[in-house]
Amino acid sequence: MTSPDITAPDLDERADALPSRPGAEWWRTAVIYQIYPRSFADSSGDGVGDLPGVTDHLDDLVELGVDALWLSPFQRSPQKDAGYDVTDYCDVDPLFGTLADFDDLLAAAHSRRIRIIVDLVPNHSSDQHVWFRAALDAGPGSRERARYLFRDGKGEHGELPPNNWESVFGGPAWTRVIEADGTPGQWFLHLFDSTQPDFDWSNEDVREEFRRVLRFWLDRGVDGFRVDVAHGLVKDAALPDYIPPADADSMGGDEAHVPYWGQDGVHDVYRDWHRLLDEYSGDRALCAEAWLPTIARTALWVRPDEMHQAFNFAYLLTGWDAAALRAIIAESLRTYAGVGAPSTWVLSNHDVVRHASRLALTAENPQGHGIGPGSPGKPIADVGLRRARAATTVMLALPGSAYLYQGEELGLPEVVDLPDAARQDPTWFRTQGERYGRDGCRVPLPWSADAPGYGFSPTGDSWLPQPEQWRSFARDVQVDDPGSTLSLYRALLSARRAHELGAGTLEWMTGFPAGVLAFRNGNVTVIANISDAAIAIPRGTVIATSGPIVGDELPVDTAVWLEDARA
Ligand code: GLC
Repeated sequence: MTSPDITAPDLDERADALPSRPGAEWWRTAVIYQIYPRSFADSSGDGVGDLPGVTDHLDDLVELGVDALWLSPFQRSPQKDAGYDVTDYCDVDPLFGTLADFDDLLAAAHSRRIRIIVDLVPNHSSDQHVWFRAALDAGPGSRERARYLFRDGKGEHGELPPNNWESVFGGPAWTRVIEADGTPGQWFLHLFDSTQPDFDWSNEDVREEFRRVLRFWLDRGVDGFRVDVAHGLVKDAALPDYIPPADADSMGGDEAHVPYWGQDGVHDVYRDWHRLLDEYSGDRALCAEAWLPTIARTALWVRPDEMHQAFNFAYLLTGWDAAALRAIIAESLRTYAGVGAPSTWVLSNHDVVRHASRLALTAENPQGHGIGPGSPGKPIADVGLRRARAATTVMLALPGSAYLYQGEELGLPEVVDLPDAARQDPTWFRTQGERYGRDGCRVPLPWSADAPGYGFSPTGDSWLPQPEQWRSFARDVQVDDPGSTLSLYRALLSARRAHELGAGTLEWMTGFPAGVLAFRNGNVTVIANISDAAIAIPRGTVIATSGPIVGDELPVDTAVWLEDARA
């Protein structure tokens, strides 16, 4: 096994070149932009985005002003769950390019002072992974099967699943295999699609394999990992029946103890990884995708010897409501500080309805689930965009680290009217179309209003159809328009950096009408009007505003940053 090259000169040089000082724990304050590679930019013309497409657009991301990129999976995969079903954790899928393309992207990003974290999918592999194929061949009781969760079925002939767990994507979480002799045999667990068998993390082969995978990418120079389903790796060994809450597809559940989420043993895995990352120079970081019912529980993932960040989904799932936002922001800052970690902030990602639509849905959608033509709640487009701009204006003023999802800087809405035939999310198939799934937030980006495929791909091809309205959201239409959403994001990110808001301290302000969220971070005053009438605001220099200020009044669904505000 190769040992980590901790003295490689490129790493030392890199530490000086990157935005924060070596040892300054860049991840405490960074704005991290999520690239969903298949939908970002396609350089090859096959209608699927790729790594060279990301490299081609790095200067646009520098201009936007982000500190780091998180790349959703680009590793080898049959793409049954858009790459979250991996066959080779240490190679690039030909769909996205080659390892050399990855190295080029990393070097090009580092030379621009942009860090890169990669997605790691340790809960499950693809059913095409060599280990799973070997497990099928080797049969019950083998070392190969012990790397996954194979069990005999219940019932006289083992015809019933080992327990009643349900897949997050709908349907049962167990699938029965046909053994080598052609008879129905054992069952294997898959918390997601049946093409995504769960590893057994009590197995040392699995633990050792993922240490190898971490070292592979750390040795190449990545700055860290976003860890997929970080609350799911360890299951209650007794595999007890569990009746999920009514909202069965939720990744967290409302109850404190779910036998497959947040088991105590999972923390040992991250303590091990923390020690492994510490062997490397340059401040590498782990971010947990852990959907848990409370902030207090999520904070367990970022204790000092575990991960560095965890996504703040409680914040993402909070509606457009001043009191609720104030409560969740206060609780986040207090609770994460209690374990010495930064809070993170996030409004959109590849799994939830884009916030330019979600914040103006006419029916409640507390988990942010995908919407389509038959959904009860329809987003009101102009209200959604106004609120999304205001919500981002609030978010980027908060101390800690913030995550952006590609396309939100263009104000993209959810695509609600995708044709059924175009849908690809396994959720859609596993629920027989009852749940639309996540395709609506994954439609490829519009770069140029008048180019084929809106500049996403040189051929105009696109793996999901792009709607006509993409023309008005295209980046080239927004780039020189001072009132555009792109210009707002650039202004916020540049002022956030100049005022060091990520490292700041939040102080609540009082004396505003109900429905107003107001706080100070250093000499920046942030006021968001979430009430139903315009409000008077203090005098001060406007640094950025999510929408026009009318006289001395801040209209509804608008947020502003003021410098040196005085009553
Ligand atoms: C995570 C990913 C999601 C994926 C699932 C299974 O939640 O964000 O896209 O489908 O894990 O890997």
